[in-house]
Amino acid sequence: MSTRFGVIGCGYVGMSFAMFARRRGFEVTGTTTSPMRLQELCDVVDHPRICRAGDPSADFSFLDQLDGLLIAIAPTDSPEANTYENVFASGVSAIVDAISKRRSQKPLHVTYLSSAGVYGDQSGKMTNELSLPDRSDPTNSLLVAAEESVLSLNSKSIQACVLRLGGIYGPGKDIQNHIKSAAGQHVAKNGNHRNAWVHLFDIISGVFFCYDRKLDGIFNLVDEMQMSRRELANSLCEQDGLPPVIWENHDRPGTRIFNARVSNDRIKSHGFKFKVPSMMDQVPV
Ligand SMILES: NC(=O)c1ccc[n+]([C@@H]2O[C@H](COP(=O)([O-])OP(=O)(O)OC[C@H]3O[C@@H](n4cnc5c(N)ncnc54)[C@H](OP(=O)(O)O)[C@@H]3O)[C@@H](O)[C@H]2O)c1
Repeated sequence: MSTRFGVIGCGYVGMSFAMFARRRGFEVTGTTTSPMRLQELCDVVDHPRICRAGDPSADFSFLDQLDGLLIAIAPTDSPEANTYENVFASGVSAIVDAISKRRSQKPLHVTYLSSAGVYGDQSGKMTNELSLPDRSDPTNSLLVAAEESVLSLNSKSIQACVLRLGGIYGPGKDIQNHIKSAAGQHVAKNGNHRNAWVHLFDIISGVFFCYDRKLDGIFNLVDEMQMSRRELANSLCEQDGLPPVIWENHDRPGTRIFNARVSNDRIKSHGFKFKVPSMMDQVPV
């Protein structure tokens, strides 16, 4: 019998993963919150479903038959209807609740996509999965609580892991050109901060990797580049003979800070190999 895989949140990452999972011969159930996206989903997955986690009428019965599940949700529609709280607090806890109440006891592996942004302000220092997230920021606090809720599923029949992603780049998300389009202009962000990045292809292979090895716990999934915003923009602009982006040297009050060198050693120590070491490298075809 083929592997049955669910993808809650067929957005940018979820939809691509669903396509690759189907190519691998998996039988895929995929969800969207939007009836308008259902047709698009019909073309990609075996069992398309409308499901808004947190909505009391949401139907999670499809969870019963799954071997693997990817949770890839983020607020997409109007912020009033779909706030961070709705998605990462009520939404995630409704999914966790539904998983824990599955009628079947067959083994299930769950991968939850979170963000390396939870490390917040580490003054640019090296951080790994053992470093404490920066919960002083309310968004980080919410995201970490969602991770903890998913990890609480770990039991005899369920393995749950969290992938902390860097900012995503890949087809249709050309961060390099986005940065270059600001050449010579002032950008109201601190240029000294170090961010983390990851290519879509590495997220897709990372989810398969965790599923195949039934990994549990937290893994940073970020590429090898640990440059500051200024260093990254300078190298991109120099390559094309463009003037540099003009960054600030201070933090604006009230902004969410992400300033950390994020280690990817843990997932690599399990044998994971990044296909795209940084956005400065060629993407293999
Ligand atoms: N984008 C980044 O740079 C970045 C960085 C770090 C981590 N991440 C994480 O990576 C994951 C995937 O990101 P993405 O770029 O693929 O997101 P995306 O394109 O915005 O897609 C989000 C998906 O979540 C669905 N969704 C929203 N609210 C929901 C709810 N209450 N219940 C069920 N589904 C819901 C959306 O449904 P519809 O189909 O109806 O829109 C959509 O399919 C997210 O968890 C995000 O936090 C992203």
